[in-house]
Amino acid sequence: MQLIVNGKMHQVDVEDEMPLLWVLRDVLGITGPKYGCGVAMCGACTVHIGGEAVRSCSLPAADVKGDITTIEGLGTPEAMHVVQKVWIMHQVAQCGYCQSGQIMSAAALLGANPNPSDDDIDQAMSGNLCRCGTYPRIRAAIKTAARELKGRAT
Ligand code: FES
Ligand code: FES
Repeated sequence: MQLIVNGKMHQVDVEDEMPLLWVLRDVLGITGPKYGCGVAMCGACTVHIGGEAVRSCSLPAADVKGDITTIEGLGTPEAMHVVQKVWIMHQVAQCGYCQSGQIMSAAALLGANPNPSDDDIDQAMSGNLCRCGTYPRIRAAIKTAARELKGRAT
């Protein structure tokens, strides 16, 4: 099957039911998305498909409809995504394991809603677990990103 990941076409020879996370990590060597629970409960494996946040551990590769973006393709060191910038500004990460999933969920939220309320943030991020308890910094960083986006729009 063919998958477009971070703008690059890949031909992969895998079983249809192989979860996308396995294809990304074990077949393509794209290790930003992490394995946490494997049952769509923690968010560590979050990627974007067509701009929407998706749990790659629970999506069979054959069911992917659209271009895939992982944390590796969200921005570059020279042109970081606003979420990556504010994550650094707020020093959000602790151990880091959950953070690519957190960033991908936050980026999808702001892509759909550049001015989220606290409830919007809670709802969008509630499925992304963090054992280190970085939740307050995540929320603060998303609010900073929203302010930056608002500044760009004016
Ligand atoms: S590893 Fe996919 S949601 Fe936990
Ligand atoms: S930063 Fe350690 S699990 Fe989230």
